[in-house]
Amino acid sequence: SNAPVKVAVTGAAGQICYSLLFRIASGALLGPTQPVELRLLEITPALKALEGVVMELDDCAFPLLSSVEIGDDATQVFDGVNLAMLVGARPRSKGMERSDLLEANGAIFTAQGKALNDHAADDVKVLVTGNPANTNALIAMTNAPDIPHHRFNALTRLDHNRALTQVAQKAGVPVAEVTHMTIWGNHSATQYPDLFHTEISGRNAAEVIDDQAWVEQDFLPTVQKRGAAIIEARGASSAASAANATVEHMRDWVTGTPEGDWISMAVPSDGSYGVPEGLISSFPCTVTDGEYSIVQGLEIDDFSRGKIDATVAELAEERDAVRSLGLI
Ligand code: NAI
Repeated sequence: SNAPVKVAVTGAAGQICYSLLFRIASGALLGPTQPVELRLLEITPALKALEGVVMELDDCAFPLLSSVEIGDDATQVFDGVNLAMLVGARPRSKGMERSDLLEANGAIFTAQGKALNDHAADDVKVLVTGNPANTNALIAMTNAPDIPHHRFNALTRLDHNRALTQVAQKAGVPVAEVTHMTIWGNHSATQYPDLFHTEISGRNAAEVIDDQAWVEQDFLPTVQKRGAAIIEARGASSAASAANATVEHMRDWVTGTPEGDWISMAVPSDGSYGVPEGLISSFPCTVTDGEYSIVQGLEIDDFSRGKIDATVAELAEERDAVRSLGLI
């Protein structure tokens, strides 16, 4: 049937969504024949601004956009949704401690996890973009006991895409020649973009580039600190590229990854590669028939092992912090 897919998006009046909603409604998420129904969640003071965004969606006359509903009550907005993109989060303000940030976001993702648990469609897939994305996803997942854990992902696709372009530019090849990129761990400055399995035109990227100093002193910090560099240059955090990555992750999760390649997705660990079970950590993943699997059997050398362990240790610390706050 060609019934509309119900897509919930939170933080809908924010800057990422000012790009994201138009991409979804134009067909970039589910293809050129699948109608979508948008369910947009905001906090009460942002509903007026959101009405303006809806006016602009109306003014695009998107043929695939069957309806738009907005609201500030997650239990209503999430009713029957098939896909949920959790973008809205509480940003860190000046003087805010890390524990304050975790607590503020904990309140949001606890409530949204419960609302998804009780009201979303049985096949719901949940992707968390709002930061701290991995730990927010962990909180939502833990508060949704009736939804299988593997339906909760967090976004590291932006980091993945950033890394692809850095490699393509270094090697002087079109970005489409770069495949098998992996981001390991947390969507934070500790993330580990792994070049040792990446390929350039089918050849090992680390061997083609053959410049370990570039990898350690240029590539890794450029990808890890790209978010800060965008803020420095633009005076605002990355939004269009974050929206693009959110669309690509969810699209690939629904429609599958390209044959012979993989992508980076932060998913609940099953213990693969020594990542403690349950942490939502980024892995190389493939998707078939709407289900992802973590790519198995990659060799991890000592350099990569140290980097993966460091980012996973940070995820475990975040988990312990939200556990001690009683959020999970
Ligand atoms: P923004 O501040 O422009 O928009 C966030 C929106 O969320 C605001 O309109 C706010 O009212 C709304 N919001 C807050 N609490 C909410 C709640 N309980 N329910 C529904 N909506 C709520 O922020 P922007 O630039 O759109 O970024 C959104 C999030 O995405 C931030 O946490 C940001 O750090 C994160 N981000 C993640 C990236 C990733 O790669 N994972 C990349 C870039 C940003």
